[in-house]
Amino acid sequence: MTISAAELASSGLQFEIDDAVATVTLNRPERRNAMTPGMWRGLAAIGSALPSRIRVVVVRGAGSSFSSGIDLRMFAAEGLPGEEPVPSAADAGFEQWVAGCQAGFLWLRDPSIVSVAAVQGHAIGAGCQLALACDLRVLADDARLCVKEPALGLVPDLTGTKPLVDIVGLPRAIELCLTARTIDAHEAAALRLGELVVAPADLDEAIADLVAALLATDAAASRATKELLAQAAGNTLEQQAAAERRAQAALLRGRLTG
Ligand code: ACO
Repeated sequence: MTISAAELASSGLQFEIDDAVATVTLNRPERRNAMTPGMWRGLAAIGSALPSRIRVVVVRGAGSSFSSGIDLRMFAAEGLPGEEPVPSAADAGFEQWVAGCQAGFLWLRDPSIVSVAAVQGHAIGAGCQLALACDLRVLADDARLCVKEPALGLVPDLTGTKPLVDIVGLPRAIELCLTARTIDAHEAAALRLGELVVAPADLDEAIADLVAALLATDAAASRATKELLAQAAGNTLEQQAAAERRAQAALLRGRLTG
């Protein structure tokens, strides 16, 4: 699926490529980058058309917040201009519709890239899940994270629950979600939800440094290692050792055959 720059702009996204680095910017700062299904479709389209040379994807938000979550006007009777209404949960296609929204998040875990969220200000609800969808998070020290969905009578359904549990563990995930508590950058980092906390003015530089370090590593080895690491939690030690052997053989054979 391809999407034009104009279509992306109308869905509130900006997309730039610089060599092996792609940057996706949520670009609705006047609404604190509130997200719509159109934006999620735009994210999915970016993911499905990502050039194979891209090694790092940076996800960021324009303005003072990363994202204030779903555009709450979606829930108003009059809906959101230009957006088709959310289908009724009674419709047979409802889960398929959610799957289409989730597609905007899932590609960020692809082994062929490393995704990095640059989080300043609020990351609420769907915004927090977008940060969770990325492999790594760099937090400005004004970052505020909140899985707010349960407080609004919803479950977090934009792929955030698995990374949340994987990172913070089940008891803390239950506590965070079921209280819908907002955590600051330092607590988030202590819970391993951020790899780094920096002053807001230093966020761009911190991202640039991280991206440069990621690009300095051999591309094929990076991809194979990410794939290996991602399966480690689901494997026994023996299975993982076997996966390491297979990955090493495939990597080195690939080099021998050019
Ligand atoms: N949906 C629609 N509009 C929004 C949203 C949103 N999620 N968030 C902010 N806006 C709008 C505000 O209505 C306001 O519009 P206006 O200028 O026309 O009045 C503008 O963006 C700026 O918002 P402020 O509240 O003035 O900005 P501030 O920086 O003080 O606060 C904050 C930012 C904390 C994000 C606040 O706007 C907020 O709490 N927003 C709602 C968050 C929310 O509940 N999201 C849903 C989570 S659940 C889910 O995502 C599934």
